[in-house]
Amino acid sequence: TEGGTDAAKRRAGERAAEEVEGGDVVGLGTGSTTAYAIEAIGEAVANGLEVQGIPTSFQSRQLALEVGIPLTTLEAVDTVDLAIDGADQVVDDPDSSAHGALIKGGGAAHTREKLVDAAAERFVVVADPSKLADRLERSVPLEVLPDAHTVVADRIRDLGGEPTLREAANKDGPVVTDNGNLVLDCEFGPIDDPDELAAVLSSVPGVVEHGLFVDLADVTYVGTDDNVAIREY
Ligand code: A5P
Repeated sequence: TEGGTDAAKRRAGERAAEEVEGGDVVGLGTGSTTAYAIEAIGEAVANGLEVQGIPTSFQSRQLALEVGIPLTTLEAVDTVDLAIDGADQVVDDPDSSAHGALIKGGGAAHTREKLVDAAAERFVVVADPSKLADRLERSVPLEVLPDAHTVVADRIRDLGGEPTLREAANKDGPVVTDNGNLVLDCEFGPIDDPDELAAVLSSVPGVVEHGLFVDLADVTYVGTDDNVAIREY
């Protein structure tokens, strides 16, 4: 919820929801921006649209149930037509080879998000201007197996990164993901080649998934207080 206004997030979410067509299987992302898309899809369902949703987190599952979107699972479908999901940072530079690359996982949901977003025929990102950057420079969340967090942290330091175990706000101890794992937020400074870093992070034993989403997004809807800008990749 940091950064953009609720109006900007709502505009992006509602624009993305307009892409949903009858009969679609829709990946339901996580976070405050996607929540507006899920609510809009719920309204369309109430008005007769037939869709099935695949949630990416406890949060998006709860919201989808609340607004009446019928749910399914990846195993039960042949195709995911569309996924709608937010981002923590989006490369917004048409001259960069990383144009459209994302950092996700601010809500610790990036493993299931990447699974569903990558499975979708079309991946629609919803964002507000506070998410746009010339290059990725936020910390990269890693979901790690609980007993792997110290060895993964050592490996990240070897790679020049600075890992921090994510602490829970309302609990003594670490954030535990929907999958029962821990999160290391890894500071690498500005990331010039996210594709290369993504490959390295994927190769570290104990890392379940990292928050770099490279070459996955098809479009980003950037909501502002009175408009939506469209970035196609
Ligand atoms: C969840 O782990 C993240 O990847 C979210 O998609 C991301 O944090 C976007 O959330 P907001 O729309 O609330 O900024």
